[in-house]
Amino acid sequence: MTPTANKFVIAASILSSDFARLGEEVRDVIAAGADWIHLDVMDNHFVPNLSFGPMVCAALRRHAVRADGQPVPIDVHLMVTPVETLARAFVRAGADRVSFHIDAVRHVDRTLQVIKEEGALAGLVFDPATPLCGLEWVIDKVDLVLIMSVNPGFGGQQFIESSLGKLRAARRLIDQCGRNIRLEVDGGVNAENIRRVADAGADTVVSGSAIFGAADYQHVIDAMRAALALPITQSAPR
Ligand code: DX5
Ligand code: ZN
Repeated sequence: MTPTANKFVIAASILSSDFARLGEEVRDVIAAGADWIHLDVMDNHFVPNLSFGPMVCAALRRHAVRADGQPVPIDVHLMVTPVETLARAFVRAGADRVSFHIDAVRHVDRTLQVIKEEGALAGLVFDPATPLCGLEWVIDKVDLVLIMSVNPGFGGQQFIESSLGKLRAARRLIDQCGRNIRLEVDGGVNAENIRRVADAGADTVVSGSAIFGAADYQHVIDAMRAALALPITQSAPR
């Protein structure tokens, strides 16, 4: 499935939102045009930071809706180890997709199966220095591949340029297998670099501080979509 066949998705990471007003922030960013809500779950063990658990997901489930009442996908990114118990808990709390770091588990294939048996779509996450080599052996099970373009643990970091090459390699693997697998990139994505990310093969981006750090969420999301709509010749310099 080529990137153009999938609608391009912008997933707003609430990591950089106002934690004192999470429900309102989720509603506002959806009204501003975000397609998914991305939850960055950190355990201060796999990554040196601590964020939130399944109860926050459950609380936000009723806020993650469109104006017409349609539910908005909750895309959970687990930066935790061990994975299985929390993965099950987040699915039961209303997560539609649960992704985990390939470096965080001993049994990748089994963990993917646990998430899918629980009823959610399953994603595999690759840190900046983690090779894709394990992906080919579970390409028949993953529903989403998440390429980290920053080191996990914090929002507001600089985009790591080498992730573009990894995106291209992941895009080739996905297209060769012919399954409808989303290719997501996470970290340091903004309106200035989103086109280069899409040209490298991503069809889904996570953005936190670029959106929630702005006064007008819609202005930023509209700028991202405008950058994506530019003909390749006019996109930002590579
Ligand atoms: C890192 C997080 C961040 C977040 C996006 O562990 O996964 O990448 O989602 O943050 P920004 O868009 O602020 O880089
Ligand atoms: Zn994330």
